[in-house]
Amino acid sequence: MPILGFGIFEVTDQDECERSVSDIFNNNAPSTNIVKTNTHPKISAFMVNLLLACSLLFSGCSSSAIRDGNVIMNARSDSGKILIVYLSRTNNTKAIAEIIQQNVGGTMVALELEKPYPENYQATVQQVVNENETGYLPPLKTKIDSMEKYDVVFVGFPTWGMKLPPPMKSFLKQYDLSGKTVIPFNTNAGYGVGSSFETVKELCKKSRLLEGFTMKGGVERDGVYFVIKDEKRKEAEVKVRDWLKQIKLIENTP
Ligand SMILES: Cc1cc2nc3c(=O)[nH]c(=O)nc-3n(C[C@H](O)[C@H](O)[C@H](O)COP(=O)(O)O)c2cc1C
Repeated sequence: MPILGFGIFEVTDQDECERSVSDIFNNNAPSTNIVKTNTHPKISAFMVNLLLACSLLFSGCSSSAIRDGNVIMNARSDSGKILIVYLSRTNNTKAIAEIIQQNVGGTMVALELEKPYPENYQATVQQVVNENETGYLPPLKTKIDSMEKYDVVFVGFPTWGMKLPPPMKSFLKQYDLSGKTVIPFNTNAGYGVGSSFETVKELCKKSRLLEGFTMKGGVERDGVYFVIKDEKRKEAEVKVRDWLKQIKLIENTP
């Protein structure tokens, strides 16, 4: 479901109504088979050279495959270039980050603040409203070493007040993701991504954005916290895989 040219892989069945909802939330393994064969030495040398040539060819292709995004990348062999950064208060977005990592590898980093939000939900909602109004960017405790080594950066966050949470704004403003592929993912209480994906797009003007993923997570307001477990985790695994195939991060095998 593309929104302003920015695709969203929407798996929630609820339509969002940003303004009224905002009011609600704002207080108002490789194969191991070994086959022994008797191979002729000349054929064997030829095969070794051929294999070497192929591996050189493909190692050259794989990193450009990440940059292009049009070619299915071998995510596993390029996993050193993948960063999965996420913000998660009640672990639903973290569960999606884990599923992404299971499929493509990469380094997972949780965003932590120098001064954590209050435990109390309503107090957090109010603080987020104030931060959004004033444009305050909460300082991050999390530091990321050598951002330049990553080509692909997944950014995961819950919807907060129908917007991108301030800590993720801090991250996107603090780190230069120019020239990298940025892929957003989200969980929410059933009201959708709001303006969060659009804000990622605005803050990553020099990055290449791929279609994002979103699904329903918890409803902290109603005391429903971590839900992406058991059957719902299995459901999420299927949805995440379908999305990763669609954006060509993993192969579309039958
Ligand atoms: C401060 C705050 C504001 C929230 N605002 C919204 C919202 O506007 N729309 C929505 O659908 N869910 C909202 N939620 C619910 C979360 O998006 C949802 O529970 C999400 O799955 C939490 O992800 P997490 O477990 O990774 O923290 C809000 C939660 C918090 C804590």
